[in-house]
Amino acid sequence: MPQPTPPSPVQEKTEKNNKLLFWLLAGTAVVVTSVALVLVFFLKGQSGVPAPSDPFIAQGQMLYNQNCSECHGEKARGDGPRAPTLKFQPADLVGHRGHHSDQDFLSILQNGTGFVMPSFKDKLTEEQMRQIIAYIRYLKE
Ligand code: HEC
Repeated sequence: MPQPTPPSPVQEKTEKNNKLLFWLLAGTAVVVTSVALVLVFFLKGQSGVPAPSDPFIAQGQMLYNQNCSECHGEKARGDGPRAPTLKFQPADLVGHRGHHSDQDFLSILQNGTGFVMPSFKDKLTEEQMRQIIAYIRYLKE
């Protein structure tokens, strides 16, 4: 019976090197994937508006997203997905908020403008309108 030849020291060394290479590659892959995931997460967080910590304003965010963002845009800059189809461009609410008192905003929400902007008198309570106004004031420039 021929005995199996024991691995030569050179063979053993290359096997060790191969293992090392494998773990190095695997490690690099894990690091690269985690960095990519963190980046995607970070960039996604940048495009949306993070939930406000004040519950009154957070309620306003929800109502704004349900009732206004399709025309006025997620960040209230007048660029919602429906904007290009409308006869008049939706206002840039963040840009205009400096000229409007809360009372002013409230009256536009209750009555509409008579043009494209609808009245929300039958859809939202005054409290809800004030929450939306607080959210518009909270948004970053
Ligand atoms: C159907 C699309 C549409 C929706 C929905 C909508 N708006 Fe408008 N909004 C407009 C347009 C267009 C104008 C510009 C004036 C006009 O044509 O009526 C406007 C004007 C305004 C103005 C007057 C701003 C200024 O400085 O002149 C305010 C305030 C406003 N919208 C707030 C809101 C809020 C808050 C909501 C959600 C509760 C909302 N809008 C929902 C289309 C819309």
